[in-house]
Amino acid sequence: MRIEQDFSLLKYNTFGMKTVARRFVEYSSTAELQQFLRSCSTDEQVFQIGGGSNLLFIHPLFEGTILHSAIKGIEVMDEDEESICLKVGAGVVWDEFVAHVVARGWGGAENLSLIPGEVGASAIQNIGAYGVEAKDIISNVYTIDRNNYSVRVFENSDCNYGYRSSIFKNSLKDQYIVTHVSYRLRKHPKLNLSYGNISAAFGEDEEITLQKVRDHIIRIREQKLPDPKVLGNAGSYFMNPVVSTALFESLKRDYHDIPSYPAEDGIKIPAAWLIQQTGWKGKSLGKAAVYEKQPLVLVNTGDAEAIDVIHLADAVIFAVEEKFSIRLKPEVIYV
Ligand code: EPU
Repeated sequence: MRIEQDFSLLKYNTFGMKTVARRFVEYSSTAELQQFLRSCSTDEQVFQIGGGSNLLFIHPLFEGTILHSAIKGIEVMDEDEESICLKVGAGVVWDEFVAHVVARGWGGAENLSLIPGEVGASAIQNIGAYGVEAKDIISNVYTIDRNNYSVRVFENSDCNYGYRSSIFKNSLKDQYIVTHVSYRLRKHPKLNLSYGNISAAFGEDEEITLQKVRDHIIRIREQKLPDPKVLGNAGSYFMNPVVSTALFESLKRDYHDIPSYPAEDGIKIPAAWLIQQTGWKGKSLGKAAVYEKQPLVLVNTGDAEAIDVIHLADAVIFAVEEKFSIRLKPEVIYV
């Protein structure tokens, strides 16, 4: 177990905030995590992070313990003619897992290539991109109960998965720590190229492999999304809002070209489009900016503090609400 005092979290958050944690604890096994939780006083604030790619530290000092998983490993649980099930440590870097399965010809994760972060968070956040979500391949989520330190294994159907959401973000928030996630991949992959114009990237008679899909997704993401090593950011800052059919119809009268997708409980409108209409795309406020190529992403233009980012986010939320009567919700978690 690694324990550090007054530890800089700069390398543990892609927004590049210079927050310091009173204590930083990194565990490498379920047993180490249980041992740490048992030793912890009940009034201590303990916050588990993954790759720090979807959060914003709002104070320069975190007066508690930041926990980080260094549980690694990819283990075969079972396999048959059709599929293989892998149990993966929560601390494995998500894209290393995707590269691992794509290289072996196992399908299901390829559209989720290059999403930043770690395996544990994929099961909490239900990460998604290009028509696929983590829930489509998750089999089980292995956790430790923070109250009694016992192991609890959730089935996919126990996790109430929805758009960027799960039971771990709602009714069971902060009650369980994910140690491993198992995923079921297909040995005879079914490609999902329906989102946007992914299929247009390939020739009509071309044999499309998992590796080619992965390489293409990586290219699109690199073109559209800023590299956190150059410009601090946490990917999509806002969720795409789902609105009622009535509101959508009334907006459509004024904005004929408003893009939309059917969603479970209404109509999903790309927040990027809404923000672009307000004129905020590419604009900055203080040391934070709305990314010029994808306005859903807010960036740290250098030495920004959380307050710069929050002011900008508020200004964008206000502008969108004023123009469209739609209130954007941050996808990023404030710590
Ligand atoms: N758009 C604009 N202006 C722009 C960019 C986009 O109007 O400058 C509109 C277009 O109509 C476009 C639509 O927004 O068709 C959708 O854009 P895009 O396909 O880039 O996807 P997104 O809705 O912006 C979501 C996810 C991303 C994920 C992509 C691809 C959310 C909040 N974001 O973005 O996830 O990579 O789809 O599937 O759902 C993340 O969560 O951090 C993330 C990057």
